Amino acid sequence: MILRGKTAIVTAAGSGIGRAGSLVMAREGAFVVVTDRNLEAAEETVQLITQASGRAEARRLDVSDDAAINSLIESVASAHDRIDILHNHAGVQVAGSIEQVGSEGFDRSWAINVHAQFVACKAVIPIMKRQKSGVILNTASNSGVFLDREMTAYITSKAASITMTRQIALDVASYGIRVNALCPGWVDTPFNDPYTRQLGGRAALEHSIKNVVPMGRFATPEEIAEVILFMVSDRSSYMTGHALVADGGESLAGGTNAGSALPEEAAALV
Ligand SMILES: NC(=O)c1ccc[n+]([C@@H]2O[C@H](COP(=O)([O-])OP(=O)(O)OC[C@H]3O[C@@H](n4cnc5c(N)ncnc54)[C@H](O)[C@@H]3O)[C@@H](O)[C@H]2O)c1
Repeated sequence: MILRGKTAIVTAAGSGIGRAGSLVMAREGAFVVVTDRNLEAAEETVQLITQASGRAEARRLDVSDDAAINSLIESVASAHDRIDILHNHAGVQVAGSIEQVGSEGFDRSWAINVHAQFVACKAVIPIMKRQKSGVILNTASNSGVFLDREMTAYITSKAASITMTRQIALDVASYGIRVNALCPGWVDTPFNDPYTRQLGGRAALEHSIKNVVPMGRFATPEEIAEVILFMVSDRSSYMTGHALVADGGESLAGGTNAGSALPEEAAALV
């Protein structure tokens, strides 16, 4: 068990990648504070963890609420005396070109994909500084390392998340705190449901992924969870300020136009 004795907080952990990452952290001995804006979903994740003999608790957290982020972090620190791992995973995808995306959609992308990560990092860093150790993982996307047609708000916010991650990493490295970004490509989770509907169903989505991903398939959340484990554990102890891409080679091919022609009302909202 490589996370024995660690306390971890994961946002948006009631589904998909956040759930799979929480399960792997618990499998490796961490106590996981499983948060989600949907408390029932967070509780389901905790149930899966306890069924596998892990330790966790569920907390409701909507990351659009700065005060709620601050009070969650404060209460975990006071209950557990430390916070070793913070995985800022919540995100939102608003599709569309500059002409299609409204300023509300752009601001929502910024609020969830960038601002919320900033607030959580700001709250946890003094705690990690006192401990002289800690790991922060910010979920960005491979959409933060390439450009894509008609994905103005998502690409801009995910690229900003990566730049912010690298900047924070630089500022806190001397305190023993590592900060990295996770950049998945297509992962088989409900996050892609709106795009699946837009394409006309699962078969069309799989066909599209076959064309744009050199490995020809989705990742499973469990495959990404192993990347998360590497990044939040001492297995990556000399790595900070890194944006780790796990996308089946999609970014090698220069990206996709997967969001092409999606009206804003079809935007994928997690
Ligand atoms: N699935 C992919 O293909 C993919 C690819 C690249 C990046 N990502 C990133 O992964 C993250 C989510 O993806 P997933 O595949 O795990 O999604 P998912 O749809 O499986 O789960 C999303 C979870 O986020 C929760 N959530 C939504 N808004 C929230 C908020 N404001 N505060 C707290 N919780 C909230 C939902 O309740 C849900 O449980 C996003 O940051 C996304 O940009 C996903």
